[in-house]
Amino acid sequence: MRLLAAGELIVLIDKVGRRHRVRLKAGERHSLHSGLIEHDALIGRPEGIIVTTQMGARMLAVRPTFAEQVTGRVRQAQPIYPKDLGAILVGADIHPGARVLEAGTGTGALTLALLRAVGPAGLVVSYEQREDFLEAANRAITETLGAIPSNLELKLGDIYTGVEDTDMDRVMLDLPEPWQAVGAAKMALRPGGIVFAHCPNVSQVQRFLDCLREVRGFGMLEVFEVLQRGWTVRGRSMRPSHRMVAHTGFLCFARRLAEDELFEPEGEGFR
Ligand SMILES: C[S@@+](CC[C@H](N)C(=O)[O-])C[C@H]1O[C@@H](n2cnc3c(N)ncnc32)[C@H](O)[C@@H]1O
Repeated sequence: MRLLAAGELIVLIDKVGRRHRVRLKAGERHSLHSGLIEHDALIGRPEGIIVTTQMGARMLAVRPTFAEQVTGRVRQAQPIYPKDLGAILVGADIHPGARVLEAGTGTGALTLALLRAVGPAGLVVSYEQREDFLEAANRAITETLGAIPSNLELKLGDIYTGVEDTDMDRVMLDLPEPWQAVGAAKMALRPGGIVFAHCPNVSQVQRFLDCLREVRGFGMLEVFEVLQRGWTVRGRSMRPSHRMVAHTGFLCFARRLAEDELFEPEGEGFR
C-alpha cells in the first residue's frame, strides 16, 4: 500500500461533496470553512482515510482521479470535459504505441489523456499557438506526471500553416477552426489513420465535414455527442439528478483513406 506522503497532491472532500486540493507538507495546516486540518494527520496514513477538523467536520482524503485533476485546476483555456475524454479515446481508438498529433494543447487535459492511452511506447506531439498557454500546459503536465515525459513533444506553432510531422496514426483537433487544419491532418496521417475534431458548435461541425469531403482522402465521417445524466440512489430516492452535463461539444471522427477518394456508408450506427 502506498501511504500518503509529503509533497503529494490530494483532495479533501467535505460532506456536501466540495473538493479542496491540498499539497501535503509536514508541519502545515489547511484552513477550511469547517475548520483546520493538520497535514501531519494525513501524511503516512492510507488513501481513503476520513479525518476530522478541529470543529468536528469529517473530510475524506484521496488522491485526485484523472477527472478531478483535469477539472480542478485554475486554467486559461477550456479543457475537454472528462465525460468526453473517455469517448474520444475509444472513438479515435487511441492505443498503446500510437503516434498522435494534437492541436491546440490548451490546458493539456487531452494531452494527458492521450499520454495515458499511448503509453511509453507511443508518441504525442502537441501544437499550441500561444506561448503562455504552452507554458501553462507544460507546468500542468509536469505537476501531474512529475516531469515532461520523453514521448511528449510540446511545440509552439500554428497548425493551420502546416506541420512537419508525418506517418501519424491519429490527429486530434480542439481549436476554433478545425477545417483550417484539415490540410495538415491529411499530410500528417498515415493511410487508415483517424482524424478527430472537438466542435462546440454545429456550424463548426458542418464546415469541418464539408472540408473533409472537399479535400478528399477521408471516409467514415461520424459525429456524436455524449450526454451525462447522474442519478441519485439514496434510501427511497431513486431518480435522475436535477442537473446533467449535457452539451459540451460534438465529437467528429473520420478515417484517412489510402487514396484521394471519399467513402461514406449510408447506414447509421456503424460504430
Ligand atoms: C479549446 S482549447 C484546447 C483545449 C485542450 N483540448 C484541453 O483539453 O485543454 C483551444 C486551444 O487551441 C489553441 N489554438 C487555436 N488555434 C490554433 C492553431 N491554429 N494552432 C495551434 N493551436 C491553436 C488555442 O490557443 C487554445 O489553447
